Amino acid sequence: MDRANLKLSHTGDRSVFPMPQQPSTAPVKIHTVRIHNRQTGTTHELQVPSDRYILHCVENQGVDLPFSCRNGACTACAVRVKSGDLRQPEAMGLSPELQSMGYALLCVSYAQSDLEVETQDEDEVYVLQFGRNFGRGKVRFGLPLEDD
Ligand code: FES
Repeated sequence: MDRANLKLSHTGDRSVFPMPQQPSTAPVKIHTVRIHNRQTGTTHELQVPSDRYILHCVENQGVDLPFSCRNGACTACAVRVKSGDLRQPEAMGLSPELQSMGYALLCVSYAQSDLEVETQDEDEVYVLQFGRNFGRGKVRFGLPLEDD
């Protein structure tokens, strides 16, 4: 690739890679977030500002919760929202349908009110989100060269 093409590839149309929405410009409020960790049987009540990711704030206060990608894609940090409101504009790993069912990804969620949430069962949201696609691909068991 010559230099001109290299430059074009860096300055091309970025609309195909939309930037995540920025946090709300509303005044920052502090909300109480109550988290029931079903895996450990523990419950934590923490203060979280409305302009910071909930998972990040919780970790900064010494509470460990499940996570993996920290990017709204893998569903490891998913919770069920029992009460309250949150925003999760970057939750690309959670369909609008699952969001409307009350699921949220704490790694990319902002508290908008006092909240009560509980962690999911292992892989609960992953299976709801991606399970319909299991077994529909061309993947076959066995060595790849058997029939080729
Ligand atoms: S840690 Fe992967 S979606 Fe939150």
